[in-house]
Parts: sequence; C-alpha cells; structure tokens
Amino acid sequence: MHREDFNMLLTDTIYFDNGATALKPKVLSEVISDYYNNYSVNSHRGDYDLSLKVDMAIDRVRELVRDFINADSVKEIAFTAGTTASLNQIIFGYYSYSMHSGDEVIITEAEHASNVLPWFELRNSKGIVIKSIPLDNNKVTLDNVKKVITDRTKVISIAMVTNTLGDLRPIKEIVKYAHERNISVIIDGAQAVPHMKVDVKDLDCDFMAFSAHKMCGPTGVGILYAKKNYMNDMYPTEFGGGMNSYFELDGSRMYSNIPTRFEAGTLNIAGIIGFGSVIEYLNKIGMDNIHKYELELKDYALSRLKEIDNIKIYNENTDSGIIIFNLGDIFAQDLAVYLNKYNICVRAGNHCAKMVHDIIDVNNTVRVSLYFYNTKEEIDKLVEVLKNPNIKNEII
Ligand code: ALA
Repeated sequence: MHREDFNMLLTDTIYFDNGATALKPKVLSEVISDYYNNYSVNSHRGDYDLSLKVDMAIDRVRELVRDFINADSVKEIAFTAGTTASLNQIIFGYYSYSMHSGDEVIITEAEHASNVLPWFELRNSKGIVIKSIPLDNNKVTLDNVKKVITDRTKVISIAMVTNTLGDLRPIKEIVKYAHERNISVIIDGAQAVPHMKVDVKDLDCDFMAFSAHKMCGPTGVGILYAKKNYMNDMYPTEFGGGMNSYFELDGSRMYSNIPTRFEAGTLNIAGIIGFGSVIEYLNKIGMDNIHKYELELKDYALSRLKEIDNIKIYNENTDSGIIIFNLGDIFAQDLAVYLNKYNICVRAGNHCAKMVHDIIDVNNTVRVSLYFYNTKEEIDKLVEVLKNPNIKNEII
C-alpha cells in the first residue's frame, strides 16, 4: 500500500526493520524543509509573526496527537525525545516520588530495555521490588497478572505490543482490574500506536509513551501521555528554559503549567511539525486499514516462512507484524548479513529486550517487522533467498 509515497521504496531495497524505525513518506521532508527554509524560528519566545506561526504549528500538532490517541485534553500530551525519554520522565518524575521501599512494580521479561532499566535504578535507589508476569505461550493473560499482584503493587508497566515477541496484551482488561485495586498502569505504546487505532480513553491507561519515528515520523520526537491528574502530580526531570515562569537566586521558582513544564529547552520544532504531517498522512490511510493489512501480511509471511526446512519461528502466535526466527544453526547476525546481500533489511540479535532469552531459550534471533507498505512479493523474495540451497556457502 502507498509505496509511491516513499523514495526508499522506489529502489530495490526490501525493508523489514520497521520495529526499529519506519521509512519516511516524502511529505515529511517537504514539511520539515518548509520549516527550515521559511520560518525556522523558535517557539514560545518571540513577539513576532514568524514565532507565532511556529507556536501555532506546534499547538496544532499537539491537537493532532490528542485526537490521534483520543486523549481528553492537549494538556495531557507532552513532547519528548522519544519513548525512552517519555518512560524515564514517567518513572523518575512520578514513581520515584510516589513509590517507597517494598512497593512493587509489575513488568514482564519481554519488555524493552527502556521499560526495565529505569525500574532497576529505582530498585537500587529506593528499594522497590520488580516482579514479572509469567507468560503463557509468550502471552500476558489477566489470570497471570492476578498471580503477581499483591497489596504492595503500585504500578503495572508493560508494552501494548512487544518489540520481539510481537504479542498484543489485553490492556483494557488489565487496566480495569488494576484500577479496582488502586494500581496505576503505564503503557509502552512504541510498537502499537504506529500499527493500530489506540484509544487511551478506551484503554483507560494512566500513562502512555510512544515515538514518532516508528510511525513514519522523524527521529527525536516522542509523546508522553498522562491523565491530567498524573500530569499535575508528576515532577519534571529536566530543568531549564521554557519550563519555568520565574526563579530567584534564593531558589524560589515556579514551573510552567502542564504540559510545558515537561518540555525544557528548545523543542525539536522541525520534528514536531513533521510529525504532524505524518499523523495526517496515517489518518488518511486509516489506522484500521493499516492494522488489517498488516495482519493479513503477517499471516501470509508465517505461512510462507513455514515452508522452509530448518526454520524455527519463535512467535508463530504473534498478534502483530513482528516475526522472529532462526534458520538451522546459522547465527542470527550472519543470516542478517546474508540477507543484506539481497538488499533485505532485517534486525538480528536480542532487539533490546535482553531478558527475552529466558522466555524463548535463545539469545539471538532474526526479526522481520512489517509495515503497511510491505508486500507479499517482498515476502516471496525473502522466502526464496532463505530457501537457497547454497546459503551456507554464501555465509562466510
Ligand atoms: N526499539 C527498537 C527496536 O525494536 C529500536 O528495534
């Protein structure tokens, strides 16, 4: 779908590394270069028309993001540098104050580093306890969530779709159960928001983090969604220009209103404006169409990959366009380098989810991650290249 919108798809590159970052439609560079060429001034600082134009452009994108995830208010949307920055702000800006020694956070061993390492820091500094939900055939179930909740559980912090196993979690059910017990829920939406309609009001999650670059947008832009009461109660983790209304030498100061107090320093203005253009682009295609197409493509990919002798697919029950596998005893990175010879881009390794080997019993896999512009013909090419009887000789 829509391949003509992407310069990189006019070449013979087969791009299956969308979990890492998505390709960019031409509209993104057009909008970014318009900003740099025609109104490249700062936001929220100038009393002149060009500055006002930038302010209005940023406000407009904040509203586009609000609408995209169906948040109640633009005050619930802060711009960050990416999912990692958003999760760090949430964990260090809210939970490092509200959690105490012995309090528990629930994660899974399939989480990305960005949703694990900040909790390790809180475990070291505050003595919090990290518990993980046992997975059932790679999946999180409400029954297994119930098994790890105790009266010390303060928060559940999980991905909606994981970047390695590709499983879609039953977030709505989990949030409902958690809220009945006064437990808050953080969602890492990095691998979900780009691929399906995600409605924070419907899910009722308390926080959500995601990145622009995995949804055809620029790198260096992320979103921190927090329900208004959490936005109000969260403390900034970065301090400087733009996030305060006054300060004196004696240390008295006042920070700006939400969400601006979480946006210290000059924003990635070009990136944010560019992000707006890709949200409009994705809206035109329709998130439900994207999701449906990707699931069809995933089913096709699984059925074709299973034709290959010696292939081991670790997540045949994936709910997304993410498939991880190995081929015989070929080291995953070697296979990725081999595929590169045929202009096929995949990721190999542990994909930043470094505890996932506890679940699938292997450290390294090859990951194919699909997006709406991939095609069955590209999958056929991948399968043809993987079926090559001389594959071992070509890998040196
Ligand atoms: N988190 C990104 C990935 O899954 C980089 O590849």
